[in-house]
Amino acid sequence: MKTRITELFGIEHPIIQGGMHYVGFAEMAAAVSNAGGLGIITGLTQKTAADLANEIARCKDMTDKPFGVNLTFLPTVNAPDYPGYIRAIIEGGVKIVETAGNNPAPFLPYFKDAGIKVIHKCTSVRHSVKAQNVGCDAISVDGFECGGHPGEDDIPNFILLPRAAEELTIPFVASGGMADGRSLVAALALGAEGINMGTRFIATQEAPVHEKVKQALVAASELDTRLVMRPLRNTERVLTNAAVERLLEKERRLGPDIKFEDIIEEVAGVYPRIMMDGDMEAGAWSCGMVAGLIHDIPTCKDLIDRIMAQANAIIRERLAGMV
Ligand SMILES: Cc1cc2nc3c(=O)[nH]c(=O)nc-3n(C[C@H](O)[C@H](O)[C@H](O)COP(=O)(O)O)c2cc1C
Repeated sequence: MKTRITELFGIEHPIIQGGMHYVGFAEMAAAVSNAGGLGIITGLTQKTAADLANEIARCKDMTDKPFGVNLTFLPTVNAPDYPGYIRAIIEGGVKIVETAGNNPAPFLPYFKDAGIKVIHKCTSVRHSVKAQNVGCDAISVDGFECGGHPGEDDIPNFILLPRAAEELTIPFVASGGMADGRSLVAALALGAEGINMGTRFIATQEAPVHEKVKQALVAASELDTRLVMRPLRNTERVLTNAAVERLLEKERRLGPDIKFEDIIEEVAGVYPRIMMDGDMEAGAWSCGMVAGLIHDIPTCKDLIDRIMAQANAIIRERLAGMV
């Protein structure tokens, strides 16, 4: 399948693995890229720029296909060492960056000068247009269904994607709720040039996370995610557990006066405990509604081959047979 996204990134299949905190290590990115998709290392999971440089080098040892690095621009006072991370990306020879969070405009000149293509993740049409106008090469349009931060507009992909298609001239992929060949064909029909998956890629053989995380995704249904931190305007879709229900109870009790400090126990330092130790009650961790469509733990290659075979069959047989 050839789309503007496969052409832009030089990949075989229009399938991207979005940056994921404590999941997007070199093993994950290399497995996806080796399977013909675009794997992405999560920059901020690496504690320092030197650690990121090392992770990029490890990934290069595992694949000679294109892979990217995610840089999430957080609205924090103590900003991470973004210039250092950007240097590690450029010096590591990485040619694709997935940005997310705040406006990437201040950093784009560095990427452009190094010949790096930038795909910015957006949860709204207005942010997508802004990213196009400041010079991003592509957009990952992240609908309300998504695992992680869906923004505050709550527009699901059946509306968000065709709205993005109405406004954008640069290519975009559908992100949030994508799981299989059906998702891919639907995304293409709505104007996207491919898909970005987070949650689905966690339930793969190569995902470098604790087995209990993968089993939790297989066991979960589409009813098992919750939105936390909405009163802080930092909404995150997470898999429910006792800590999440406790957090939501605090939000109800404290109302609009709630502060980050009130929920710090349920959200701070949670990722290594969940992803590496398998301590499934440690706190809130991102998960999409797409958990309801995850029933197994294939290799990345089997997953991607299956998506492409199903998509091709839907297009050639089911859809062609209808017209
Ligand atoms: C466990 C987890 C961690 C994530 N961490 C990040 C992150 O650090 N930066 C980022 O831009 N997106 C992050 N995301 C969002 C994904 O890149 C992707 O946009 C999202 O998962 C798509 O929705 P889906 O889960 O329905 O596929 C994370 C998602 C998950 C599930």
